[in-house]
Amino acid sequence: MSETTATAPAGAVPAQPGPAEVTDAAPGGEHMDAATSGEPGRFEAIAGAGPVVRLGERATLRLREGAPEEPARYAPEWLELRESADAAARSHDLLDPLRIRLANLPGRPGGLVVHDLGCGTGSMGRWLAPRLDGAQHWVLHDRDPYLLHFAAVASPRVAADGSRVTVETRRGDVARLTPDALTGASLVTASALLDVLTREEIDTLAEACTGAGCPALLTLSVAGRVEFGTPHPLDAELTEAFNAHQRRGGMLGPGAVDAACEAFSERGATVKVNPSPWRLGPDERALTEQWLRGWVGAAVEERPALAGPAETYLADRLAACAAGDLRVVLHHSDLLALARPAGGR
Ligand SMILES: C[S@@+](CC[C@H](N)C(=O)[O-])C[C@H]1O[C@@H](n2cnc3c(N)ncnc32)[C@H](O)[C@@H]1O
Repeated sequence: MSETTATAPAGAVPAQPGPAEVTDAAPGGEHMDAATSGEPGRFEAIAGAGPVVRLGERATLRLREGAPEEPARYAPEWLELRESADAAARSHDLLDPLRIRLANLPGRPGGLVVHDLGCGTGSMGRWLAPRLDGAQHWVLHDRDPYLLHFAAVASPRVAADGSRVTVETRRGDVARLTPDALTGASLVTASALLDVLTREEIDTLAEACTGAGCPALLTLSVAGRVEFGTPHPLDAELTEAFNAHQRRGGMLGPGAVDAACEAFSERGATVKVNPSPWRLGPDERALTEQWLRGWVGAAVEERPALAGPAETYLADRLAACAAGDLRVVLHHSDLLALARPAGGR
């Protein structure tokens, strides 16, 4: 599956993006253009910020116009913006059963081997590695080499008990993972990935994990529900349109967690799902603003007839956000799948 493998030292994520292929792209990306219909900027979000397709999060950049089959890319600025909200949202209750499973694995001289699928800039590892005991080697997978670079330089160094954490990066398509690719793996993780996969891709992932007898912690999948502190009559229609937008091209969007539960259970794994909502308020204004722009933009792209009322809606919501008066809960789910250990352990 992988194209390249590299090891890298830990360090800090650069504050600014480097490669021009990301920064050169038009703000808002191609998905926004349809929504804005001649008035660019109305629903504009960070270029490559996912707000445009998935709960703020499917990427909007394409490296070459006119190459629709080329996967869209995610902006590191967007991933950085959401990292603290993700960390606050993650379900801690899934960690104890996971720790028990990991503690029962046969001892391995190098410690745990963790594969993080669709790692982006590596936020999952920065959150999880310091919460697990023992030496760890993280294999960071993504198809975007630019994001893999960010992930490598900002990787975690130290486990909960002070043991060493090392990383390597692997470029490739995680939707084609095989059990062989997970040979020797102690754990598979993913964050904000499941909902951009198709049913077939989730089956492939479940097959790979259960085939390798490897537990999987698959976090922050969108649930398709949004609750505003102050409800508005347009909330439900925008939510519905946004959710429909997320299902484009066969992606599962808000149906991903149910599909993953089914796929892992059918293959003999024990599955547990916990809520992991973003709870956004005045302290998360920058994230809320970007998410709102993308969320409304995607909904309008899906249903262009919403453009007029959505523009007023967005202006009102952004004004409330700027004033520190906007509160919104975006529902996500975290899933832990404990496969039967390979070889009957
Ligand atoms: C929403 S971002 C999440 C990134 C990171 N896990 C986080 O939580 O910040 C989704 C990531 O998955 C990667 N991705 C999506 N589909 C992929 C695939 N089929 N193969 C490899 N990477 C993929 C994207 O490049 C992106 O980095």
